Amino acid sequence: MRMLFPDWAEAVDPAQVYADLPRANGRPSVRLNMIVSVDGGTSWNGVSGALGGPADKALFQVLRSITDVVLVASGTMKAEQYGPAVLPQATQDARRQRGQTAVPPIAVVSRTCRFDWKAPFFTAATGRPIVITVSDADAADRARAAEVAEVIVAGAHDVDLARAMHELGARGARTVLAEGGPTLNGDLARARLLDELCVTLSPLLASGDAKRIIAGSTLDELERLRLRSVCGEDDYLFLRYRPAKI
Ligand SMILES: NC(=O)c1ccc[n+]([C@@H]2O[C@H](COP(=O)([O-])OP(=O)(O)OC[C@H]3O[C@@H](n4cnc5c(N)ncnc54)[C@H](OP(=O)(O)O)[C@@H]3O)[C@@H](O)[C@H]2O)c1
Repeated sequence: MRMLFPDWAEAVDPAQVYADLPRANGRPSVRLNMIVSVDGGTSWNGVSGALGGPADKALFQVLRSITDVVLVASGTMKAEQYGPAVLPQATQDARRQRGQTAVPPIAVVSRTCRFDWKAPFFTAATGRPIVITVSDADAADRARAAEVAEVIVAGAHDVDLARAMHELGARGARTVLAEGGPTLNGDLARARLLDELCVTLSPLLASGDAKRIIAGSTLDELERLRLRSVCGEDDYLFLRYRPAKI
């Protein structure tokens, strides 16, 4: 991977480029990672896989190898058929030495708390996944979730994401890697919980009605971002932004 900004470097190690994440006050820091086509689409035929290339997939793994917790919305977890995070043994050893779990648990956000409880996401995980849901969710579904996952109830109708972050922090998480999708991203943005946005610009046109990176109602105010770094490989651009206020 080549760095184009702020410095020029022919070859950089993504693990070093992405090592830093600003500390958030009283909650884990939240980094969002998304890939988007040049025309702004976040999926093609319902999933994002076709937008990616080898360098993007490698960065996806690097970001997972750094984080304490992965956060994903139920829609993405189901559409992309999420399983548990899988990392090479050497990466797991390095994480343990840093005081992290061998692989980051994945926390899935859901209002309904309805899942296929026999899916590998729940059955193949070495550590328990986390289900973040609401008190309005059916009690039987919440009880079923508790059999295979740690359950965090944050809010009544919508998941109160600030509270959810606080709960993850109370369980020791200092960093959260949000992997989408756009509906959850919108809620994170409106709650001003995004500390860094990692956007891979994929050299593809997708057209169609795929969502943008951030979906849902318009922000009350435009949020100014600052460009932190730009890397590139194989016509893919890896852009990293932070809110200007940080
Ligand atoms: N390009 C990329 O990098 C990328 C990354 C991720 C996803 N995607 C694509 O994005 C699409 C899915 O995104 P999406 O926007 O349709 O859905 P989504 O954000 O993945 O999931 C929406 C669902 O998540 C739960 N949810 C989200 N926010 C919530 C909140 N504040 N409180 C309670 N529940 C909440 C609800 O689940 P329940 O219905 O269970 O209540 C809701 O129906 C897929 O096509 C996927 O391939 C692309």
